[in-house]
Amino acid sequence: MRRLRGRHLLWLADYSGEEIMFIIDTAIDFKRRFYAGERVIPVLKGKSIGLLFEKPSTRTRVSLEVAVYQLGGQPIYMTRSELQLGRGETIADTARVLSRYLDALVARVRRHEDLVELARHSSIPVINGLSDLVHPLQALADIMTIKEKLGRVRGVKIAFVGDGSDNVLHSLMLAVSKLGMHLVVATPRPLRPDERVLREASKAAEESGATIEIVENPVEAVKGADVVYTDVWVSMGQEDIAEEKRKMLRPYQVNSKLMEIAGDKAIFMHCLPARRGEEVTDDVIDGPRSVVWDQAENRLHTHKAVLALLVP
Ligand code: CP
Ligand code: NVA
Repeated sequence: MRRLRGRHLLWLADYSGEEIMFIIDTAIDFKRRFYAGERVIPVLKGKSIGLLFEKPSTRTRVSLEVAVYQLGGQPIYMTRSELQLGRGETIADTARVLSRYLDALVARVRRHEDLVELARHSSIPVINGLSDLVHPLQALADIMTIKEKLGRVRGVKIAFVGDGSDNVLHSLMLAVSKLGMHLVVATPRPLRPDERVLREASKAAEESGATIEIVENPVEAVKGADVVYTDVWVSMGQEDIAEEKRKMLRPYQVNSKLMEIAGDKAIFMHCLPARRGEEVTDDVIDGPRSVVWDQAENRLHTHKAVLALLVP
């Protein structure tokens, strides 16, 4: 395992399966300690963590602020429009200056390339809080939740039903491919996953024994699945193609009929926010097999692990 301290976390392709599981096991330990009454574990005492958000957020922003507080540090929330970045100061100059004040920077960006540019000019760890390409912090909480609920990770079969070009799916693909898991994506042909992500995931899958399959039929995908996963059909920033995507994805709704085909043991996951009645029905997301609230809670514990391990 390479040293984690001081590393960027832009996408999970840069992390080994062992490193990913180490972060998740650390998160499970943080969660256990929290419920045992250790609310504050001050490993970030005297440190400041920047949270730069170009898009809205409920879970990522709030759980990160709470995570930094519970680690004894100071979170600083910023939006692009409040910084000089919004008036034309370059990303490189912003990165150089913020590196002189902060100990790490989490950024949620419209364009993944901007995150790469930010990291290139930062001397502190830059952590991806969601980009148009990937959402690695989400995937860490997803795998942690699977481990908690199913008691294992390797060999677990996930069926992702919906938008194959989704950032959350992309990170799930990268995680699955490193961890010897099985993923079947049911998506319309025009929404196939990003080629770079597919290439990275296929390469890693060969080594770990993972499999990633892309099909068009949701019924075929969910048969024998341990996990049925979906995300919104229209991601932030895709408002211009919203109608087109909704039309294409209509046959991909996760409803009780599809969950019945998946079998009794399958759990339901969603990164949230959900568009109820669109990609998922109320009876599924509110039903006994849904683990979405624990999944959302695990964002907090995984954020604590990532910060405790990566911040120098
Ligand atoms: N799942 C997730 O990242 O949610 P937010 O957009 O609310 O942060
Ligand atoms: N795919 C969604 C995820 C939100 C957490 C989006 O990018 O809007």
